[in-house]
This record gives sequence, structure tokens and C-alpha cells, in this order.
Amino acid sequence: MKVLVVGSGGRCHAIVEALSKSAQVDKIFCAPGNAGIAALAECVAIKETAVEELKAFAVEQGIELTVVGPEVALEAGIADSFKAANLRIFGPEKAAAQIECSKQFAKDLMQKYNIPTAEYATFEDFDAAWEYVKAGSLPTVLKYDGLAAGKGVVIAETLEQAEEALRDMLQDEKFGKGKVVIEEYLEGPEFSLLCFVNGTDVYPMPVAQDHKRAYDGDKGPNTGGMGAYTELPFITDEDLQYAMDKIMRPTAAAMVEEGCSFCGVLYGGLMKTKSGIKVIEFNARFGDPETEVILPRLKSDMCQVFCDVADGKTPVIEWDEQATLGVVLASKGYPGSYEKGYVIEGIEEIDGSIYHMGTASKDDKYVTSGGRVMIVVCKAPTLREAQQKAQAEVEKIKCDNLFHRTDIGDKAFKY
Ligand code: AMP
Ligand code: GLY
Repeated sequence: MKVLVVGSGGRCHAIVEALSKSAQVDKIFCAPGNAGIAALAECVAIKETAVEELKAFAVEQGIELTVVGPEVALEAGIADSFKAANLRIFGPEKAAAQIECSKQFAKDLMQKYNIPTAEYATFEDFDAAWEYVKAGSLPTVLKYDGLAAGKGVVIAETLEQAEEALRDMLQDEKFGKGKVVIEEYLEGPEFSLLCFVNGTDVYPMPVAQDHKRAYDGDKGPNTGGMGAYTELPFITDEDLQYAMDKIMRPTAAAMVEEGCSFCGVLYGGLMKTKSGIKVIEFNARFGDPETEVILPRLKSDMCQVFCDVADGKTPVIEWDEQATLGVVLASKGYPGSYEKGYVIEGIEEIDGSIYHMGTASKDDKYVTSGGRVMIVVCKAPTLREAQQKAQAEVEKIKCDNLFHRTDIGDKAFKY
């Protein structure tokens, strides 16, 4: 089979790697891919959102399966377009991707179907939103309705912060014209439950936890994710059962009921609060960096899983029992401005997996080319061992302009 993976970054590298292990896969294309992915797939210079070009490429090459990484491609309607042309694609149509692309859609759906989530109200008008905030409690959570590349959520501790965020979103239209969802502030450990979904069929992956803050101790600005691990000691079997029975399965069924059946990965961003597990957000795709720690545990044939889920068949999905932990190496200055082009050495010495997030090739060497540059992932029988191994391995990467957190996974033992 010839397959196409749409996207770049560590998540796509992990998807490409998993597909490369399948005996059915003869050739992998990745659009646009990156320097690391190029070792396993032929990278094609087509943008993730260039839906018509991607479709023409898939037809011309006789691609039998396309897997979509980023939400921007879903919002651009890639699944609608491919399905209309009878091309098999793993990823939801635009109407179903609203569960990620519109916070209001997701919140209204959860309210209508009694799926546990924070209390909320939606506003278009600055004055009405401001009155609501003043009448409520602090901290409060303000979310821009549309896609904002992870920057559309503000947790305001003070009224001044809330007012500034509301002005940015509703008056200055910093992310474009749109509404704001104002939400009750919840507390508790967060975790990600990703499921393969087609209609009402929902198959869970091992739960993972991301680390969104830039520095150790969960300090510093929010990032795209500085590390992740799987096997969460604080999530019990009962918690998982609850999350599947009260959140993931009812949400998939609600989407069918609403006429926008979901096919792809439904990502539940969940929080274990004192009053039960609640939804913080849904994503309509694989998480990043969760995918980089989840897929190395897949024992089954990745290509078969994608095809079966897309075709509405029951997939065989088996997972390795071992724990995984990944540490991200990011350019100094990230998530603010940073320099590019620094040579990276030591990659071949890593005993574990390495997924490229933002690298380029120069004179037969890899150089940094993004904010997050790569993630080192190690597997071991226990989370502690996976953590120790990953922290030791990551030190083997030599580069003048990278930093990483040294406490990925510590939280698992503290809740
Ligand atoms: P989101 O983009 O919706 O995942 O929000 C980004 C981050 O903001 C989440 O990972 C949480 O850490 C935090 N957050 C979002 N909503 C809430 C909430 N209602 N209460 C507390 N923290 C939240
Ligand atoms: N890890 C968070 C995300 O993929 O959105």
C-alpha cells in the first residue's frame, strides 16, 4: 500500500514510524514532513492546508490511505474533499472537527448531552462579558471560540487580567472576529485520553499526560508541550471506565445524533477534579507530544488499525505494557523568539526513539529549525525507569541552543 501522512512535527514522525513497521506499507509520503521524517518517508512539498493539491497528489499516486495530523487541515475540509473523491482518509470531516475548532460547539454539545465539564457562558459583546466576569469569581477562564494555535485560553487571576484578555479577544480581535467562552476554573491533575473513533465505536489508547509549561516545576509560559508520559499512576481503572462511559462514548454518540459523526482520533483533554472527571477540551486529532509516547507502545499493525477504523470495521489494537516517557528539546527562547540553524549532534547515540519536531538538514547534519526541535522517548517496565532512562539519554544530544525540562513525569508521583 501507498500511504500519505499530512503534517510535519513530532506527532507525524511518530505516525510515520508506526506505519513504517507495517508489512502492508510499501511507500510512505509525508506532506510537508521534516528532516527526520525524510529518513522513513518521501517528503512532498505541499502545505497541510492545500487540500486540492493534496487530493490531486493522492489520486495521481494511487494513495490508499491518508492520515491527517494537524487540525488546520481538518478545518480546511481535507476529509470532506477526500471522501467526496472516494479516497480513504483517517480524520474527521469539517463539521465533526468543530468539536476542536469551536469551543462553543464543544461546550453546547456537552451541555446538551450531560457530559461533565466546567460551567460556562458564551459572549460576543465586550460589555456583557465584562459584567459577567465582574459578577463571578476568580480565577476565571476565558477562551477564544476559534482556533488560536494554543494561545486562545487565558486563566485570569485578577479582574485586570480578565479585562485585558476580553479586550484582546472581543474588541481588538487579536485572533480574528469571534466569540468568547467564559468558564468556571477547575482544579486537579490533567490527562489526555485519545480514542480511535468511528461513529459510536470508540477504542481507547493508553492515557498520557502532557507538560505544557516551558520550565521545571510547571513554571513559565505555555508551550506546545515540553514532554509527556504514559501509564498514569493516579488514574485508576475506575477513572478510566468513568471517562469512557460518561465522556468519550457519549460524546461520540452525541456527534452521530447531531448529524456530524466523527471518524478519526477524538482527544479528550480531561481533568480529575474533586467532583469527578471533567472535560477541559476536545481535540479532533492526535495530541502532540502525547502521540510520541503512545504510538511506540502499539503492538498491532498501525496501517490495519487506521484502515479498519476508517472502514467501520472492528480493529485489533494491542498495547505494550511498558511505560514510556518523552523529553522535548526546544530552542532557547521558545515559546518566545529564538534563533535557528544550530547543529545537533549525538542523535545516533540515543538508546530509545527520537522524533523530529523542528529540524532541517544542512551539509549532511541536522540543524535546529523550530521552537520545539525534537523529543527523546524511552520505554521501560516502570515509569520511574522510563523517566531515568529518558533523562539520561536526552543529555547525549549536543547542541548550543537547546534546553529541556528535567522533571517530566515527576508529577505522576505527587498527586
Ligand atoms: P485548552 O486549550 O482548552 O486545553 O486550555 C489550555 C489549558 O488551560 C488547559 O490545558 C488547562 O491547563 C487550562 N484550562 C482550560 N480550561 C480550564 C478550566 N476550566 N479550569 C482550569 N484550567 C483550565
Ligand atoms: N498536547 C496538547 C495538544 O495536542 O493539543
